[in-house]
Amino acid sequence: MTEDSWIDVGAVADLKFGPGAPVRVGDHWLALFRHDGKLVAIDNACPHANAPLCDGRVERGKVICFLHCWEFDLRTGACDLGAGWSVRTYAVREAAGRALVLWPGPKT
Ligand code: FES
Repeated sequence: MTEDSWIDVGAVADLKFGPGAPVRVGDHWLALFRHDGKLVAIDNACPHANAPLCDGRVERGKVICFLHCWEFDLRTGACDLGAGWSVRTYAVREAAGRALVLWPGPKT
């Protein structure tokens, strides 16, 4: 991919939220969540020790990693321990019952 692209990650009805839904773009796993009625996407791998954030607990707009309880804002990806530990966020939209993630192309 040479520029930002909307990637179809599946039918919204088929997403398995628990509480996040893991989806794959190429070899990269994302976690989709319902937040304030909208879909949001963050990197699925916790930057601490790679636990899947889709299996964390959601409270106050944050996902809390189930392994060591680091917290990540679902809108911004910010980690409560500092910017160096933040996860990436991705724009998501729904169209015709499908979830589409804006996948960033390489920056020049
Ligand atoms: S693996 Fe997520 S906080 Fe340790």
